[in-house]
Order: sequence, then C-alpha cells, then structure tokens
Amino acid sequence: MGVRRKMALRFDLIIFTILLFASPVLSDLILSKVDRRIDLTSQIVRITSTLKVENEGSEPVSEVLLAFPDLQVKDLALLKASPHEGKGKVKSLSASLPVENVKPNGMPAALTFYAVKLPKALGKGDSYTFDVLAVFAHALRPFPEKITQADIQLVVFQESAFYLTPYVVKVQSLSVKLPESRIESYTKLENTKIHGSEIKYGPYENLPSFSYSPIVVHFESNQPFAVGQEVVREIEISHWGNVQVTEHYKLVHGGAQNKGEFSRLDYQARPTIRGASAFKYLIAKMPPRVHSVYYRDEIGNISTSNLWGDSKKTELLIEPRYPLFGGWRTAFTIGYGLPLKDFLFELEGNRFLNITFGSPMNELVIDNLIVKVVLPEGSGDISVSAPFPVNQWEETKLSHLDLTGRPVVVLQKTNVVPEHNQFFQVYYKFSKLSMLREPFMLIFGFFSLFVAGIVYMHVDMSISKSSAAYLARLQWDEVSMMCWVKFQSSMKIYTLD
Ligand SMILES: *[C@@H]1O[C@H](CO)[C@@H](O)[C@H](O)[C@H]1NC(C)=O
Ligand SMILES: *[C@@H]1O[C@H](CO)[C@@H](O)[C@H](O)[C@H]1NC(C)=O
Repeated sequence: MGVRRKMALRFDLIIFTILLFASPVLSDLILSKVDRRIDLTSQIVRITSTLKVENEGSEPVSEVLLAFPDLQVKDLALLKASPHEGKGKVKSLSASLPVENVKPNGMPAALTFYAVKLPKALGKGDSYTFDVLAVFAHALRPFPEKITQADIQLVVFQESAFYLTPYVVKVQSLSVKLPESRIESYTKLENTKIHGSEIKYGPYENLPSFSYSPIVVHFESNQPFAVGQEVVREIEISHWGNVQVTEHYKLVHGGAQNKGEFSRLDYQARPTIRGASAFKYLIAKMPPRVHSVYYRDEIGNISTSNLWGDSKKTELLIEPRYPLFGGWRTAFTIGYGLPLKDFLFELEGNRFLNITFGSPMNELVIDNLIVKVVLPEGSGDISVSAPFPVNQWEETKLSHLDLTGRPVVVLQKTNVVPEHNQFFQVYYKFSKLSMLREPFMLIFGFFSLFVAGIVYMHVDMSISKSSAAYLARLQWDEVSMMCWVKFQSSMKIYTLD
C-alpha cells in the first residue's frame, strides 16, 4: 500500500505544475477522436495513438502539437508520426510526417512539445487522421526493486487515462496490453474494463485541454530486460568481397536486482520458478548469406551458440555461460562476414554502403551505441546519410600493410531501440588503383627478397659446411621459409572470396 501512496505523490507533483501553468486553448484545432494503444508486453514500451484533428476556426492550420511530461521524455527513444492507413500498423518511415521539438509560448513548464507538420494545411472544417508512435526505453520500473531468486519480477507503469494535449478532445479511448501473466493492481476509473491481459479505459467525451488522470499498472513481467550499456559495432569494408562486422556488447539485466545468494542447484532444478526473470539466451536476427559467425567472451569461443535460417534471414541463438539475473552483467563479442555485393553499391562514380544501424539482437535497449564504419585505405569525400540524428566524427585505423591508415566514420547514439534498426548510408570515393597497392607492395617486397637471396647464394657457393657463413645461410633459409608461409597466408585473405 505504501507503494501506491508513494507513486501517487509523484503524480500529484506533475498535475500540480500542469494546473498551475495551464493556459487557454492555443488554436482552433480540436481532436475529434483519439485512440491510444499501449503495448507493455516487452521491456520496451510502445504507445501508438491515432489522432483525428479538425480545424474549427477559419485560419488554416498546418501543425499539430504533441505534449509529453518531461518525466516521460527522458525515456523517449523514438517519436514518429505517419498518415493513418485504416486499421493496422504504422506505415514505413518513407511516409512519415516531419516531427520537431518546439517551445510554444505560454505552455506549462513541466511539458515538452513536439510539432507534427501536416502534408497540407487544414482549412475551416477540414480534418486529418494520423498515427503517432512513441517508443520508450526504461519506462517500466521494477517494483520491488530487489527480489530474490524465488520471486517473480513485478514492474510498474504510469500514464494518464486522458490524452494529455493542448487541444479539446471530443472522444477518446485507451487500451493497455500486458504480458499474459499476473496483474498485481491497476487504477480503476469510471469506464474501466479488463479483458484477459488487456485493460481498457474510456470512452471519455468532451474533455478540456490538458486533462490528466493518472493511472498506475503493476504487473508481472518476465521478459528479458536486456540492456546494452555500451555496444560497439565495427563494420569493415574490404573491396575484395567482404563486409566484416564485429560487435562488442556490455550487457546488463536491467530488471529487478537479484538479492541474496544465487543457487545454481535451485535454478537448474526449477528454472521457470527459481529465476523466472533471468535470461538464458538472446536471439540475433542476421542478414541472409551471413558467414563465418563466431561468438566469444573473455574466456574464449562459446560453442553453445546456434545458427539457423533460410534464404531470407538467419537467426543466431546466443547463450552466455550463465543465466543473467537482475543487475548481473556480461560482456561478449560476436563477429560475422557479409557478402559485399549485398551492401555496397555504386552511384555516379561514388560508392556507398547501405546497411542497418542497430544491433541485430531482439528487443534490446542500448544506452550507448557506437557504429564504426572502416573504409578501405585511400577512400575520400566521405559523407553519411542517417534517418535520425546521430553524433558523428572521424578516426583512422591502422592495420597490417596500411601506409596512411583506413578512414573510420564513427556514429554515436544514446537510447537506441529496435525501431532504430534502419538503413543508413556512407558515401565515399575510391580509385580502383589504390586497391592494387597492397598486393603490389607484397609482390614487390618478396621479389626484392628473392633477388637478394639469389645474389647471396651466388656469392656463397664454395663455403665449407663448418664455416660461420654456412650456419648463417642455414638461418637465412629458415627465415625465408617463414616469410613464404606468411606471404601465402596473406595471399589467402585476398583469394578467399
Ligand atoms: C574462435 O572461433 C573462430 C571462428 O570460428 C576461430 O577463427 C578462432 O580461432 C577460435 N578461437 C579460439 C580461441 O578457439
Ligand atoms: C538500402 O537498402 C534497403 C533494403 O534493401 C532499401 O530499401 C533502401 O532503399 C536502400 N537505400 C538506398 C539509399 O539505396
């Protein structure tokens, strides 16, 4: 009970500030219908809203404001608006409407506003329907925060039953989809119904702007709360036919902290009861035609990973050495090769890489994602096109046989969710001649060695077997033998594909 009182207190604070600064209606827009669906079936919270806006004034309006409490905005990972397409999913990004952060005058201080630009201005009496998808990371709070191995994991989610908006709303409804397990408690208001694992609020009619009615849902969630505190993806292009991807993960179980002793015996005897919220494996969705997949941690290769798939996709099952309980950490690396022709294209003399940004891991939240694209030595005129804002800088990477180093484009983003797994492009210029530089260097190097060897042997033809010169020659033979082996193995790299 004390729990609920504490949470209610936090809400009072928000409402108080909102009421204090609530301002009159800002335009003649109204929302004639609002439908919201909240998906709480995984650790990532997704709120899809369908809004029908109507212009009741005579001035044309081309922007609609969306309002979020600041407390929620800090967890907001993605906000996307798109034209409504009947019943169904939010459309692809290409059809999205521009959304930007704005600071309208005279608005409540505890709110953050975004403006959605409509495809065309709404005249008097016109209406338009669009969808808004808001994705939140870390919006489910474990409660209690610490549990033992035998406890189930309960989480809390807070929202408003009324759609928080600067406009008047004629009719609205809300549904909250929970995982199919225990519901500890939920706020009951007028017109609250529950069907299995779905809670419905509304319909509510004719609510003034900035209406707010807090709801709290407390429920069981045993989804893996896999959080990448830092993930570094390195994508290295070799014009000899390969894109090599190496991904370093620092993972933590972001759910309720495990307290007390961990008993492996207990866990192994009854894993679904003793440690229901622990996760034993992760699934990565790899591109088709992936090859040379490996998975290792600081101890070495892990062979329990499993790869399967067909021509459209490949899935990799990653099983850490021990199940991960709340608060536990693990670090590992996965690596794989991809065919160059699937990801590298040419456009008007430029080359460009077109590959996905995020991690292939299912339902993973990444606090800090760093994507490094390593281009071949000699690349220039580099530019990046990304579908959302990212921090960007350049580095150089030196590996064997590099003279000046390879240009590296580094992209960095915080709060990454699976919806960020979109294609981005790196454009660059590269001359075909630079590509031959490395084999030429090798051939020239070994040719010089060979000539030197012949000269040496001719000079040394008549030397007795016990002389120092003979011993030196034996050593020379050994060294050149080793060089040959090295040469052959480096040539193998180039002929592999
Ligand atoms: C790990 O696996 C990779 C790829 O299969 C292999 O090249 C490497 O030698 C292995 N390393 C160890 C330490 O077994
Ligand atoms: C990148 O690849 C995706 C998937 O194949 C494709 O839909 C998209 O149009 C490509 N982007 C560019 C700029 O070529």
